[in-house]
Amino acid sequence: MFYRPQDGHGLPHSPFNAIVSPRPIAWISTRGSDGSENLAPYSFFNAVAYVPPQIMFASTSAKPDRDNTKDTVANIQDTGVFCVNTVEYAMRDVMNQTSGPWDKDTDEFELATVPRAACEQIACSRVADAPASLECQMTQIVKLPGEANYVVFGEVVGIHIRDDCLKDGIFDVTRYQPLARLGYKDYTRVTEVFSLNRPEG
Ligand SMILES: Cc1cc2nc3c(=O)[nH]c(=O)nc-3n(C[C@H](O)[C@H](O)[C@H](O)COP(=O)(O)O)c2cc1C
Repeated sequence: MFYRPQDGHGLPHSPFNAIVSPRPIAWISTRGSDGSENLAPYSFFNAVAYVPPQIMFASTSAKPDRDNTKDTVANIQDTGVFCVNTVEYAMRDVMNQTSGPWDKDTDEFELATVPRAACEQIACSRVADAPASLECQMTQIVKLPGEANYVVFGEVVGIHIRDDCLKDGIFDVTRYQPLARLGYKDYTRVTEVFSLNRPEG
């Protein structure tokens, strides 16, 4: 089939985010300038540069108690910092609980009973037992076409790695099974890894 998004797909559900999958999940912790804490998952997320290390995530649609965005972007607009926590399969249910449409004063660390720890470089909490956490300084927030679509870019200024995820000096994803988002209500996890050598030019 072929369709133009502006004409509709004619399917029961849009296939768009199933096509762009699997996507890593950034479980993003932020703190408002009033001290309120927030935690929510974002799968429109990726690394975008090595030196200095930089990442991006995108927020789509708005909450009724925020001015045209969600709590995560609003807090980053306020403070300029955020922390990306990675998610393992074992954390799937608590991660999902933090994605509810909770009001802006809800502390999702408390709501979902997620242990927190202080970040080192930024004034923000992180998920204490995440496989890895990336402390980020926001560099740009770009408004995209459409309503309440934003991309947030950040420079990684501190990296936490859980000790059991390091094996012989390698960050070994098979030790924790990264969770990734597919389309619809679906997810996957990494259980198998293989390697390829790049062609030599
Ligand atoms: C696995 C998963 C991935 C998600 N990815 C995104 C995303 O990339 N962008 C987005 O705007 N919302 C995404 N959501 C929905 C947000 O988590 C949800 O709107 C949440 O309430 C936002 O919280 P906040 O207002 O505290 O930032 C995702 C939800 C789940 C469960």
